[in-house]
Amino acid sequence: QQDALTFAINPNANPMPEADRLKAFENLGFGTLFSDHMAVIRWSADKGWHSAEVTARAPFPLDPAAAVLHYAQEIFEGMKAYRAADGRAVLFRPEENARRFNESARRMAMPELPEALFLEAVEQLVRADARWIPAAEGSSLYLRPFMFASEAFLGVRPSKEYIFCVIASPVGPYFKGGAKPVSIWVSEHYTRASAGGTGAAKCGGNYAGSLVAQAVAHEHGCDQVVFLDAAENRWIEELGGMNVFVVMADGSLVTPPLGGTILPGITRKSLIALARDLGYTVREERYAFEDWKADVASGKAKEAFACGTAAVVAAIGKVKFPGGEFVINSGETGPVTAKLRDALVGIQRGQTNDAHGWLKVL
Ligand code: COI
Repeated sequence: QQDALTFAINPNANPMPEADRLKAFENLGFGTLFSDHMAVIRWSADKGWHSAEVTARAPFPLDPAAAVLHYAQEIFEGMKAYRAADGRAVLFRPEENARRFNESARRMAMPELPEALFLEAVEQLVRADARWIPAAEGSSLYLRPFMFASEAFLGVRPSKEYIFCVIASPVGPYFKGGAKPVSIWVSEHYTRASAGGTGAAKCGGNYAGSLVAQAVAHEHGCDQVVFLDAAENRWIEELGGMNVFVVMADGSLVTPPLGGTILPGITRKSLIALARDLGYTVREERYAFEDWKADVASGKAKEAFACGTAAVVAAIGKVKFPGGEFVINSGETGPVTAKLRDALVGIQRGQTNDAHGWLKVL
């Protein structure tokens, strides 16, 4: 095991001028602005993990036969560094990302990256780009670790070379509407994942496959698509890039169970823990779309929200489907959703007691 590699540190000779960075920070969207550096580690079948470095963010020269360009052997993670109220830079549960990254790697027949190396790469990059962590409420430095097959070879088998990289992007809200509740479109035609497939892996292909359904959602004026299960086209699974929760009138919460077709969200897992801390019952249970529709009509289901690293917690205000729509909580963010969001964000920003020890201070 190569748990420790020495990272070569090659500072960017042309970092963004401070005035330009501050100007860019005035209007942060999601994923369009990038920091000065990237962390890179290479893997080859003969050398294992090697050549760790933090260097100026730059394009990768890639052979046109690089396996990732043909067979999509690629995985990624999403995580954030926050500027806490007292000025510290903190990461939220980074070891969970390191662990999930390796679960994805195994599913995609890629080499595992020792968790210590994953964490070291992320921390080295955040240290090099500390000035890129925005402090404004609702903003953070989004970190994108990823790994792809770089061997030039057209046969269909696992690559013998990979590049692991972490890039950083200062972000504001994921949705254009900011904290406003989102609308979702129920995809009754396209599905996301089936049993035995790659649904639980964070691989690029899952997101590529969601785009056409997401485009249909946009045509119907919705922010996100929600997928139903592939076997029965009946059970709610997840959104294009987020998990989903429904809040019932009795104060309990329901979220689809992890059964191999759903992305095991770290925000999902954290919210389940926080909801239980706050005294709510959380059921990880299958929930049929038809039941959701009926429960909203009868008042049994009161609120719903989407959650993910990028989106944090976003209330769902409207659900559209072929032939109709229904509004949830008058299209407003409900009290339970707001309470859970505040509990999570409070910990992430270092404003409330981190009882679970989720923060990693840098
Ligand atoms: C995240 O929430 O970090 C993701 O990776 C999903 C994507 C919608 C940005």
